[in-house]
Amino acid sequence: MNRLIVVTVSLLWAWWGAAAGLASAQSAQGKPASQRPITVLIAYHTLRGHTEEMARGVEEGVRRVPGVVPVLKKVEEVTKEDLVAADGIILGCPTYFANIPGSMKAILDTWNWKLKVDFTDKIGGAFATGGGQMGGKEHTVVSLLLFMINNRMVVAGPLYEDEQGDDKWGELGAGAMTGPIDPKISPAELDSARRVGERIARLARKMR
Ligand SMILES: Cc1cc2nc3c(=O)[nH]c(=O)nc-3n(C[C@H](O)[C@H](O)[C@H](O)COP(=O)(O)O)c2cc1C
Repeated sequence: MNRLIVVTVSLLWAWWGAAAGLASAQSAQGKPASQRPITVLIAYHTLRGHTEEMARGVEEGVRRVPGVVPVLKKVEEVTKEDLVAADGIILGCPTYFANIPGSMKAILDTWNWKLKVDFTDKIGGAFATGGGQMGGKEHTVVSLLLFMINNRMVVAGPLYEDEQGDDKWGELGAGAMTGPIDPKISPAELDSARRVGERIARLARKMR
């Protein structure tokens, strides 16, 4: 009789453990991966709003791809659940001293180090704003892409064609100049933001 009780309790304990494990595996994202929508997280840092304007352009670009849902957030508001659920991640920031602002970099460093997110094969893209024409925004984009490659992501930039469609190019990311020489986000700069959003959304959908 005692043996029967011990076996029954052990079985219940094992069942409960398995159920709890399954629930926690799904709880980060709510649903199993196959049932979740394809999402592209756009995470950005901004103080004066220029980078946010570009981020909204990126969001529009993601929406161009049917079946892909953009999630737009300031980098400090991004949760582990956002990161785990994202099929694609697009990071954007202003250029500070030709690189990623330190406050944003400090947050990015926690994503692997503390949150322990597995970024393997998520699709990544980047954009940056900068006051100067040659103030280092391209370098900022590359730094963001390096962070992604180092975290085992697959990175890509926007595509463009010339007016005749003869020449096709890939770019590193999207960018906008915001300083006194050219303070507004121009239509061409916004277009680059839309194109990076669209490219990453397409690739995220393919990868899924
Ligand atoms: C501390 C600091 C450092 C900056 N360093 C650079 C720089 O090295 N190169 C550059 O082109 N712009 C630089 N800028 C200008 C910003 O990158 C630019 O104004 C950016 O568009 C601001 O983005 P936001 O409006 O989203 O905050 C710097 C701005 C600040 C506040």
